[in-house]
Amino acid sequence: MSKKLTIGLFGFGVVGQGLYDIIRTKNLNIEIVKICIKDGSKKRTLPSHLFTTDKNELLNNPEINTIVELINDTEAAFEIVSRALSTGKNVVSASKKMIALHLNELIELQHNYGTSLLYEGAVCGSIPIIRNLEEYYDNELLHSICGIFNGSSNYILSKGFIENLDYDSALKQAQDLGFAETDPTMDVGGFDAKFKLVIAAAHAYGVVVKPEEVFNLGIQSLSAYDLQYAREKNLKIKLVPVAKELDDRHVALFVLPKFVNETEFLYNVEYEYNGVIVQAAFADQQFFFGKGAGGHPTGSAVLSDIAALRYDYQYEYKKAKEKKDLNFTNDIEINIYLRYVDDDLVEALEFEHIHERYYSGSYKFVIGKINLQKLIDNQSRILEDKAFIAFADQLAGVSLAPAKKQTAEVF
Ligand code: HSE
Repeated sequence: MSKKLTIGLFGFGVVGQGLYDIIRTKNLNIEIVKICIKDGSKKRTLPSHLFTTDKNELLNNPEINTIVELINDTEAAFEIVSRALSTGKNVVSASKKMIALHLNELIELQHNYGTSLLYEGAVCGSIPIIRNLEEYYDNELLHSICGIFNGSSNYILSKGFIENLDYDSALKQAQDLGFAETDPTMDVGGFDAKFKLVIAAAHAYGVVVKPEEVFNLGIQSLSAYDLQYAREKNLKIKLVPVAKELDDRHVALFVLPKFVNETEFLYNVEYEYNGVIVQAAFADQQFFFGKGAGGHPTGSAVLSDIAALRYDYQYEYKKAKEKKDLNFTNDIEINIYLRYVDDDLVEALEFEHIHERYYSGSYKFVIGKINLQKLIDNQSRILEDKAFIAFADQLAGVSLAPAKKQTAEVF
C-alpha cells in the first residue's frame, strides 16, 4: 500500500486550482492540509480554515509530509522549496524559472537530505517529458530535443496565422485564459521556453547550463511581413527551443523562432498545445504532443508527480553524475532569416554566407549562415532594431536530413 500524502500547497492560482479540482474528483489517499496564499483578502471557493498567509504554518507542520509549490515568485519559491527539502519534506514544483536558475543547488539539497523534488509540471505542461528523458532514454544516445515549449507564444502565433488576430489581442486572450506568465515577456521573449529547455537538457544530457548563457530570442518583433513571407512559402513560424549534441564533447542550446513546413511535426501544433521532438540514435525520431499550459493540463502533471512520491520516486540525475566530457557551447553555425531596419546590423552580424538578400520599401531581409555567438554579441542591437530572426534551414536550401556535426540543422 502506498503511503498517505499530506500536502501543504503553496499558491492557489490557475494551476493550484486545477490541481485541487483533479484531486477532489479522485480517491487517491492524498489530503490537502493547508493552502498558503499571498492575498488573504481575496474571496475563495473553499472553506477559509484551509487557507493561511503564513508559510510557516505549512513548513513547520509535522503533519505535512509533502509540499506542492505553485507560486509565481521565483526567489520566494526557492526559499520554500529549499526549506522543505532540507527539513525532510518531499516537494513537487512547477516553477520552471526557479528550477532552471537553481538546479545545481536543488540537486545538492536532494542529495544531502535524501528528499525528492519532482517537476514534470514545470516543462511542457501535461507532456511527460522529464521522466521519459530521465528514465526511458537512459541508454539511448540523444542527438537532439526540440519543440514548442511555450503555450502562450504558440497561442499568439496560431491566432495570428489561422484567425488573423492581431498580436496584442491574442496576447490578451492568452492572459485571460491563464496561459501567460505574470510578465508576458517571459513567454513571447523565449525566456520561459529557455528555462524549460535548460531543465530538459539536464535530464537528457546531464549538462546543467546557466540560463543566462543560453541565447533566446522570441516572437516580440514578429511583423505582418514575416507572416506574409511564411504564408507565401507555405511555412508557419513557431518558437522553438533546441538542445543538440554536436559531437561527443559538445552540446548546444538556444531558443529562436523557426520556419516549419508541413512535413514537420511542429507544423500542426497549434494554440496552447506543446510538442517535443526527440531525435535518438536507435529509436530515431519521436514526437510527444499535448497541452502545454492551463490549470487542468498542468495540474495533471503535478498530480502525476504527487502520485510518484507515494512510492518515493526520485530523479537520480544519472547522466549528470556520470557526466563524461560533455560541455555546453555556443559555437555553432545556423541558417537564419533576418528581417531588419538598420543595414549596419547586417554588417555587425558578419554573415558567413548570404543565400538571399531582399529589400522593397520598408521590408528588408537577408537569409544566410551565421555563428550563434554573433547573435549573442549583438542581442541588444537586434532588439533595438526590432529585427525578427527565425531559424531557416528550408530557406537556405539545406536538406531536412538529420544533423551533421557542428551545425544546428536539427530535423
Ligand atoms: N506561460 C507558460 C506557457 C505556462 O504559456 O507555456 C506553462 O508553463
